[in-house]
Amino acid sequence: MERIEVKTQHEIKMNKVNQSRINEVDFNSLVFGRVFSDHMFTADFADGQWQNCEIQPFGNLSMHPASNVLHYGQAIFEGMKAFKYQDGTPVLFRLEEHAKRFNASARRLCMAEVPEELFCEAIEKIISLDRNWIPTFEGASLYIRPFLIGTDGYLGVKPSQTFKFIIFTCPVGPYYPKPVTLVTAEKYVRAVVGGVGEAKAAGNYAASLLPMREANNKGYDQVMWMDANEFKYIQEVGTMNLFFVIGDKVVTPAINGAILKGITRKSFIDILKDKGIPVEERDITIDEIVEAYKTGELKEIFGSGTAAVASHVSELTHKGYKMVLPPVEERRIGNMLKRELNDIRTGVVEDRFGWIKKL
Ligand code: COI
Repeated sequence: MERIEVKTQHEIKMNKVNQSRINEVDFNSLVFGRVFSDHMFTADFADGQWQNCEIQPFGNLSMHPASNVLHYGQAIFEGMKAFKYQDGTPVLFRLEEHAKRFNASARRLCMAEVPEELFCEAIEKIISLDRNWIPTFEGASLYIRPFLIGTDGYLGVKPSQTFKFIIFTCPVGPYYPKPVTLVTAEKYVRAVVGGVGEAKAAGNYAASLLPMREANNKGYDQVMWMDANEFKYIQEVGTMNLFFVIGDKVVTPAINGAILKGITRKSFIDILKDKGIPVEERDITIDEIVEAYKTGELKEIFGSGTAAVASHVSELTHKGYKMVLPPVEERRIGNMLKRELNDIRTGVVEDRFGWIKKL
C-alpha cells in the first residue's frame, strides 16, 4: 500500500480563551474523562502536508457527514499523562514513546503519520498553557488524548487523503477507583494476530462494548481477553495489559501482534528488572493460572495502563470457577509498582530511566 509522504514544516498558532473555565471545576471529585481543560490543539493534513496547526479554545468540531472516520473508522488515539513535580514543574511521562506508538497505529490504519516533533511540540505547548489544570493530589493527573481521524468526505472504501489531528486534555482521578473483577472471554475475541489489536484503533474499543456489557450484566467489571484461536492464552483487558505474580516471579503475556504494546507495561518490566525481581514475558495459559491459584502460588493479578496505572484484580472467574485474590494490602508487587511509578512521575524519586520531560 502506498505510504503517505509527510512534509514536516509547521507553525503553531495560538488562540487563547478569554476566560478560563477552571474555577467551575471541582477538583475534589474528578471522574475520568468528563472534565475538559480550556484548550485543544488541532491540525489538518491535506495536499501531503500538515497545516493549520493551532491551539484554540476547547469546543465542538464540524465535519463532512461522509467523513471516512464516521463510516469506515479510520481513527486512532493515544493516552498519556502530565504531572507536576513537587516544586510545581509540569512534567510529561514518556512523550517520545507515545509519539512513536501513535505513528505505528497510524501506519497500521493507513493514515498520515504525525511528525514526532509536531506531536511533541503540540503537547508541550498545550500542557504549558493549561498547566493550572494538572491536579496534584495522589493518583490524579492531566490525561492527554491525542487522536487522528480520516476526514475525506467520500463513501468509497479507500484510505482517506485528509486527516485531522487533535489533542485535548482532561484532569482525571483514577480510572478504576477500586479493584476490578474479571471474567475470561469464552465467546467473543478482542484481537487476532494480523488484525489491529496492537494498534490503538478506536474500533478495538467499540468491539469490546457488547462483551463488556454482557460481563457487567453478570456482575463482572471487565473481560479478560483470550487468544482468538483456542481461548487458551491470555491476552489483555482492553483498558490495560495484565501481570500475574506466581510464587516469586512476575509474568506478563508476551507481545504477539494481538496485544497492545503498553507503555506502562514496558515501564513496569523495566522497574522490575531494575529491582532484580524476576519477570517473564511469555505465553500464559488460563490453565496455568487456575493451577497456580489451586496450589496457592497465585499471589496477585493486576493491570497496567496509562489510565489504569496499576489496577488490582480482586477476582477472576473462568468457566464459572471463581478465583478470589489476596487482599490488596498484601499485594507486594502491584503496590510497589504503583508507588514507584507515581514517585518517578512526581519527582519523589530520581528519574533513573530518563522517562520524564520537564516543561
Ligand atoms: C489509556 O490507558 O490511556 C487507554 O487508552 C485506556 C482507555 C481506553 C481509557
